[in-house]
Amino acid sequence: MAPQIKYTKLFIDNEWVDAKSGKTFETYNPHDGSVIAKVAEGDKADIDLAVAAAKRAFHRNSEWRQLDASQRGEIIRKFADLIERDGQYIAELESYNNGTVMNFASMFVGSFVKTARYLASCADKLHGDTLAADGEVFSYTLKQPVGVCGLILPWNAPVGMFLNKVCTALAAGCTVVVKPAEQTPLTALVLASLLKEAGVPKGVVNVVNGFGPGAGTALTHHSDVAKISFTGSVEVGKLIQQAAGANNLKRVTLELGGKSPLVIMNDADLNLAVPYAANGVFFHQGQICIAASRLFVQSGIYDKFVEAAVKHAQSIKVGNPTDPTTQNGPQVDETMMTKVLGYIEKGKKEGAKLLCGGNRIGTTGYYIQPTVFADVTDDMTIAKEEIFGPVQSILKFDTLEEVIDRANNTNYGLAAGIFTTNVNTALQFSKYVEAGVVWVNTYLSFTPQAPFGGFKESGIGRENGMAALDAYLEVKTVTVSLPKKV
Ligand code: NAI
Ligand code: MG
Repeated sequence: MAPQIKYTKLFIDNEWVDAKSGKTFETYNPHDGSVIAKVAEGDKADIDLAVAAAKRAFHRNSEWRQLDASQRGEIIRKFADLIERDGQYIAELESYNNGTVMNFASMFVGSFVKTARYLASCADKLHGDTLAADGEVFSYTLKQPVGVCGLILPWNAPVGMFLNKVCTALAAGCTVVVKPAEQTPLTALVLASLLKEAGVPKGVVNVVNGFGPGAGTALTHHSDVAKISFTGSVEVGKLIQQAAGANNLKRVTLELGGKSPLVIMNDADLNLAVPYAANGVFFHQGQICIAASRLFVQSGIYDKFVEAAVKHAQSIKVGNPTDPTTQNGPQVDETMMTKVLGYIEKGKKEGAKLLCGGNRIGTTGYYIQPTVFADVTDDMTIAKEEIFGPVQSILKFDTLEEVIDRANNTNYGLAAGIFTTNVNTALQFSKYVEAGVVWVNTYLSFTPQAPFGGFKESGIGRENGMAALDAYLEVKTVTVSLPKKV
């Protein structure tokens, strides 16, 4: 049964309101392309109201700013409890609007509850230092919230992105305006209702659905917004940094795309490496920024590995995400499906060897067969550009030195991985590969404590862990002159 749609309006100042323009937009179920609901479409006028509410809530006298840090932590902890209470419904709604396979959606929600609890526990552990300053002075630092934050979300993990960014901002004491992705506007509204129930004072969290050129641009250009945290495409990441620079020098955290290399050495345990490599690129239909989309396999095991990889890909069960036995669901929308199919055509045309998959499944919904290309070379489009779909590209290499240079020969630098039983190989690769996250004999391994983000065009700044909190804080130095003599 379809999950109930409880909220479709904008959430501003703890109230549900229509867009000023009265406009709405349709949101879809990627399983069959059917319309789920009409959602209020926010624009500049609504962003202005939301930012004004967030600014009032950030005033030094506001209810929010008067709370102790531990009380902020308590609110976030309560929020985590409520997500746990409503976890099944949130997972179902995520699956319905995004195509996330139900098993994963439930797992995601569970892991994000942990993240929220971690961040709740951080709220009263953010402190400055006393300094060993020269001269007769007492000097110390304070860490203070940066102000009103604009949080712009992608569609590939709507619940996770909302929770991660919002809880980090709240732990730091900021107030926020969230702009969810236009493809997946629904779960953010449910989470906003739970924040209100958890006792977040009015104006602290506002959610304005809408499109990038409307609501998104208005947020990034608003002079009362002190920081933008964005996850999405490199193209829009660059626009956001330009807007910040042209306007009020907003702080900017960008978590962008990747073309992450996963290296399989001759000495790897293939029983581990084959399924991890498959999961690394097929998980969530490949719609993950850390997808292992360049799979480098050493020449000594290449043929054997390719054969096993194809078998694995062919065993993946694709279908309705609500079926508990389904492993892969649909791409999020027709645009993304068409884009991925276009990359598959390019792969064929440029001479990569298509070993399985390569086609759309059926004619309703946005399903694509898990696809494996072998004999991919570095110059091919599918080895260079982010595909964001279920496409495994296998490349052959001979030496560690060679594969490190080839792995680094990209504008991206988000994740990397290596499977090897030689500790020296693992450590050398980890040292020299240009990526913000390196996994050894594992892949897609996340914990709330570990910072996450990219080198090069994969982004600026870090999410997760204490590093993420720093990005929502300003350091203030206070120096007090002392009498020279006592
Ligand atoms: P996108 O970057 O256009 O959209 C992400 C978010 O940014 C959405 O909320 C969108 O409304 C907003 N946005 C779009 N234009 C904006 C603007 N000018 N100012 C402010 N906000 C704006 O990503 P899209 O088009 O959904 O996907 C394109 C590609 O980006 C994908 O194929 C994939 O390669 C990559 N991507 C990477 C993600 C990641 O996790 N790093 C997530 C989503 C997409
Ligand atoms: Mg876009």
